Parts: sequence; C-alpha cells; structure tokens
Amino acid sequence: MQQRATKKKAAPERISEEYYQISPEILASFPRFRLPLPLFRYREEVGQLLPIVQREERISTEQQELIRELCEEGDIFVSRADYPIYSKHICKQLDLILVDRNLKDAEIASICIQALRMRMGDFIEQPVKPVFELLYRDLMTFGEYIWSDKYRLKTFMRRINRRHTLISHSINTLIAGLWIVTASWSQDTQIKRKEYDRILTALAFHDIGMSKIPAFILSKSTPLKPEEKEKIPPHTLIGAKIAQKMELGWDELVQASMEHHERLDGSGYPRHIRGAEISKVGRLTAIADSFCAMISERPYAPAKEPAQAAMELVNAPHLYDNRLAVVLRNAIVAKEFGTIPEVDAQQDEPGRLKA
Ligand SMILES: [Fe+2]
Ligand SMILES: [Fe+2]
Repeated sequence: MQQRATKKKAAPERISEEYYQISPEILASFPRFRLPLPLFRYREEVGQLLPIVQREERISTEQQELIRELCEEGDIFVSRADYPIYSKHICKQLDLILVDRNLKDAEIASICIQALRMRMGDFIEQPVKPVFELLYRDLMTFGEYIWSDKYRLKTFMRRINRRHTLISHSINTLIAGLWIVTASWSQDTQIKRKEYDRILTALAFHDIGMSKIPAFILSKSTPLKPEEKEKIPPHTLIGAKIAQKMELGWDELVQASMEHHERLDGSGYPRHIRGAEISKVGRLTAIADSFCAMISERPYAPAKEPAQAAMELVNAPHLYDNRLAVVLRNAIVAKEFGTIPEVDAQQDEPGRLKA
C-alpha cells in the first residue's frame, strides 16, 4: 500500500493517550454504513472529543462524507478502550500498519504477531497454496515494516512466546532468524530485498511438515517413546513436498524444510549432508530453529536462558555455522535487538492450534 500525503494535524497529547487519531486509509477499510466501534470528533472550540457515530449505528451517505472530510483534517478518533476491536480489524488487513502513524510500536507488534499467528495457524491446519498466499502477504507486510527500521525487531523480540506450540515455534524462528539476518547487516554487504523476503518466508515455513505429524505426538506432555520419535524426522521431507506445491519458483522454502536438522559434520538428517552442501538458508534456519527450541519449555527439557542457548550454539562449531552463532550470541549479550521475556512473564497470544 502506498503512503500518501496527509493534511492531518497532530492530536493534543492528553487526547492521544486515550484515543487513536484514525487515518483516512484505516477509516476507508471499515464497512461504510455501520462501524464495529464508535467514532469521536475533535471539537477545537471546546478542546474535547465528542461522539459522532455510535457502534453499529446506521451512517447516512452525507454523514459518511462529513466523517471522511473530518478524518482528512485529523479530527476523527477511536477510543483506546476499543483497541481489541480496532486491532482485530487491522489484523485482518495487516498492510494498514504500513500507512498508520498513530499506533505505537508495541501495538503494531502485537497486531502483527496476532495476524501472523492467525495466518500460520490457518496454514498449519490447511497447508495449501491459497492459505499460504494469505500468510505470505502478511509476512511481506511484516518484512516491509522491519526493513524500514531494523530496530523495530526489539518490540517483536519482547513477544517471543516461550511456551512451545507449532505456531509459536514458527513465529519465534521467524523473529530470531530475522534477528540474526539484521544483526549481520553491518558486517555483510546489505542483503538484497528479494533474498530477505525469501529468507523470512522460509524461516516461518521451515516446520510446516510437522502439520502432518499425528497430533497426539505433537501435543504429548511427556517425553516421546522411541517409536514415536521415529515419526518426527519425515517432517523435513513432508515440508519440502508442501513447499514444492506452493510453486514459487525459488528454492529457499525447500531448503529450509529439508536442511534445518542437517548439521555441518553430517550428523543431522534427513540426508546427512555436511559443510558447504548445506545451503545458506539451511544453516540460518538450523540456528534459529535450535535456538528457539532451546529457549522454549518442552516436555522433555526445561527452557534455557537465551544467552546460555546462544553460547551452546557458539560452542558447537562442528554442528552450526559459527559465524551466525557468534552474531546471535553477540546481539543477545549486547541486547542489540532488545531482550527475550522470562518464561513465566509470558503473555498469552491468541492462536487456535496447540501443537
Ligand atoms: Fe523441524
Ligand atoms: Fe523447527
């Protein structure tokens, strides 16, 4: 969505604490004749916000025109008390975050994670192309948002969810992997946009093959028996098959699915490839995936502290790309992209599928 020039004026500070000034683009994205939340109009003469339309009230064409004009002037607001409705609406049209200038970074990060969790959950339930396209669209919006300011990742790091589910793990791996990518920006020549888009999609996608692993295995709260463990490795191949069905014409999804459990010394699976045989995306996904698994509470292992987990990866140069592991460890120690929350300080994020 293109940004456009606006005539909007800034909202008085005490008002912007309790209300959002609604952008014309966001207003236009709501149904025209009935709104799911009330609108308020700023009256300069009294320095106050007064209701202009109630929730679900029928809005006439003349009123719509007036509201649109007032909105262009920056005089239309929604209450922060209606944030759940407002955020749910934006969540379904995530590219609105790229044009809105009134939501705070933390609010955008929450909305973005809510949207990605919803799309990821849908895709895990139904790993087919039309569902993937909705996820991909939101991944591109998220990517655009971080691309324009990499330090925005800080607010996403604070939302890493350390309770292990397939949705959380996929989103965490996306955030942590992107964290490694952006932390290397200063060292590398900056990554090309096309490659960045593909990498972030691959990070979120890497474990999609798990969607076909029996649910009772994924939801078990006790350690897996040997015969149950055997059912896990094929998720790499299943993921690669799903990736091919997306018909994207690029290899990163297949590489992330196939290679995130491969290790540099050939001790990984499924193909036991080693060293340079493992692609760049495969090596990145392996680190992000292992790191996110290690810092999550799992049935068979307690969550590790992020700095300790990163250190273990650095200390295993025979398994993991050491340069990437060092980038991750340094970024964590320097808190370059914020901090990961404590396990018990976790907020519950919405998401339907527990896995
Ligand atoms: Fe995996
Ligand atoms: Fe994974």
